Amino acid sequence: MSKAYDTGPAVTGPNVLSYHEFRTDEELENRQKAIRQRIRTAIDDGHEAQSKGEYGQLARIISAGLLPVLDIDRYSLRLYDERLHDSPYGWHMTALSRFFENQDRYLTPESVDGREWLSARSNRGETPEEHRQRILDGVFESLESAAIMEGYLPSRLEKQQPVYGFSMQLGERYVRPDSTAGGTLDIRDTDDELKTILCAGSKGSGKSTAVESMVLDSYANGHKIVDLVDFFKSENATYDLPQQEPTNADLIEAREAMDLGAGFEDWDERPNLEIMAPLSPGLEKMQVPYNEDSDEPVMRPFTIPASDLTFRQLVMLLHNTTPTQENHLRSAHQKLVNSGRDWTLKDVADTVRNKTGAGDSVCDRIETALETAQGKSFIRDKECEHQLDWSDIMQNEDVITSFTVHTIREPSDRLLVLSYLLDSVYDAREQLTRHNLTENFAPMTIVMREMHKVAPRSKSEQEAESTMEGYMIDTLSELFALARHANTEIIADTQEFKQQLSSEVSGLFDHIYCFQSHVPDVKNIFKTRLDDTDPAETIAQFEQPGKCALVNEDGYTMPIQFAPPPCHHLEAKEDGSGLGMRARVDETGEKLLPAPWNANVPARLKFDDTPDDPVAEFCEKFIDQTNDMNDYAVKEYITDTYNEWAKVQDKKIMSHDKIHRRVKNHFDLGDDTDAKPTVDGERKYAHRTLVLRGEDVPI
Ligand SMILES: Nc1ncnc2c1ncn2[C@@H]1O[C@H](COP(=O)(O)OP(=O)(O)OP(=O)(O)O)[C@@H](O)[C@H]1O
Ligand SMILES: [Mg+2]
Repeated sequence: MSKAYDTGPAVTGPNVLSYHEFRTDEELENRQKAIRQRIRTAIDDGHEAQSKGEYGQLARIISAGLLPVLDIDRYSLRLYDERLHDSPYGWHMTALSRFFENQDRYLTPESVDGREWLSARSNRGETPEEHRQRILDGVFESLESAAIMEGYLPSRLEKQQPVYGFSMQLGERYVRPDSTAGGTLDIRDTDDELKTILCAGSKGSGKSTAVESMVLDSYANGHKIVDLVDFFKSENATYDLPQQEPTNADLIEAREAMDLGAGFEDWDERPNLEIMAPLSPGLEKMQVPYNEDSDEPVMRPFTIPASDLTFRQLVMLLHNTTPTQENHLRSAHQKLVNSGRDWTLKDVADTVRNKTGAGDSVCDRIETALETAQGKSFIRDKECEHQLDWSDIMQNEDVITSFTVHTIREPSDRLLVLSYLLDSVYDAREQLTRHNLTENFAPMTIVMREMHKVAPRSKSEQEAESTMEGYMIDTLSELFALARHANTEIIADTQEFKQQLSSEVSGLFDHIYCFQSHVPDVKNIFKTRLDDTDPAETIAQFEQPGKCALVNEDGYTMPIQFAPPPCHHLEAKEDGSGLGMRARVDETGEKLLPAPWNANVPARLKFDDTPDDPVAEFCEKFIDQTNDMNDYAVKEYITDTYNEWAKVQDKKIMSHDKIHRRVKNHFDLGDDTDAKPTVDGERKYAHRTLVLRGEDVPI
């Protein structure tokens, strides 16, 4: 006998199923599942038809979708009546009796006969149609109750169990009336280690409000809050503002429905908050919130010492470097790191030129790129007064520190700054653990919204960006490993868990709050933690934002309905930027004023010894910035005009590259303004949004 057919000795015993029994059970279970699904769909469709007033459709759902599956007819009705007439579920025996008296006429009243029949039955002064609708409503609700009683539908009658965080009520959990769950559900009072938490779900499912509620709970529990990620409009700059109408009207109502006060009325005082943004020409031109009492901005700029940059970050800063350039940069970076000095970007250029054997044209290009990078202002040295200082931030325990990179334009620069923030917060916590100082500081809560942008599953098509993303994923893995020992919790949110979030990162979270999402996405969350994926269908159908399941390796708890936070939840579409929002809220006593910081590069970091930049002077005099993407100034014309002007005015003649680097710097242009329009029948390189006032140039 071949091995494949050798089934071995027969296995028997009380706990063993034969294959036949196993298949029979499986078929039965599948059949039950299919029936349950059919009934749920019919009930949902019935509610929809009812809400649209489509009674023909409701009648069809009752006769074809519910009665045959539930096996209810005028004979079995009595049995149901015995079990349901005293129950808390809606049961309308009179309507049912009327209905079964002559089903066809309620279902299809279009015939003259049907209408007359109905007319004879209607009472209470109703029209025949009103009568028919009342009976169908009663029948539908009764069938729904029968389905609940048979266990096909979850009970609609639920009791609420308050859900608590460290000290705040964070929401409610709904449990069946017969459930033994009592008291409160404490979702964060776990063992002594802080957790890493992810809120995952579709757009608008209520992830960010849940994050905000948990963050304020951590703050109330004495944690130092650091919100690291904002790409857009300072959405994390409103933790200290009470909720504002009209955009938060629903959220205030949702809190009140749980008997929770809106705003900070139950708090001794509002939280404190500071906003950190990288110093840049863009920030210099902004209006920022100022506290009118202290006359201090609520925002602070920060800079990054060049000598803290990793080689990858340095390459990212320079955009579009070639492999040859990277080799020379790597060698220069290594030499500078070994020197232990507080080196600058200018030192990189000099080291490349003098110590790596690079040819002149490579050196020139690297220098040009480094000088452009220096002009962005946020990379400086350790002497800079704005240098990001984590020990200062960690000591300011009762201030929520929210970072934003929305003030810089280039996506790659934003990623670079974010990568630096991750590296540096890791180093700061790691130092504390290494020196056994963790106990001297408050526990830290690191918040990362839009995790799928920080650690995306499919990396960017731009090579430099995708390298940086890979690098950030590595840092995140280290940060998660460290968090457990460094008294640090991480709270993050992401849209599509499976499709968008890196699998290296998605596996790292201890707790996942799973909000409404596609079935495969929800299943994936369950699969990564548990064997059971049954609840996925139900979670995928959650309609109310804020409703979710808590999933971890020990099991799941659902449904939990989060309470919105007491703070204002920014609705970016209507509220605009978080900064402008602050100035509109009375309680803050803030107004928007021009930023007080200067983004000029200090002399010690300048590449060029000439203090005045002639290109800047030329730009001021002869180029208009219209900010209209339809306008453009041809680069070649600018170069020619500049050099002719420079000759007459006895200024420095410069190369085409150098001139345009400075023009871009001067007007803070990104790559999106680079264009190649057809001019006089020829394609020419140009800067959009600028106009050269050629005819006025006095040559
Ligand atoms: N707990 C809640 N109770 C009631 N309504 C809520 C709750 N949470 C959110 N909402 C409503 O849902 C909207 C979207 O919520 P939120 O911004 O938190 O969603 P999100 O999942 O973060 O979406 P996105 O992926 O677009 O960031 C809110 O503006 C609010 O109207
Ligand atoms: Mg959100």
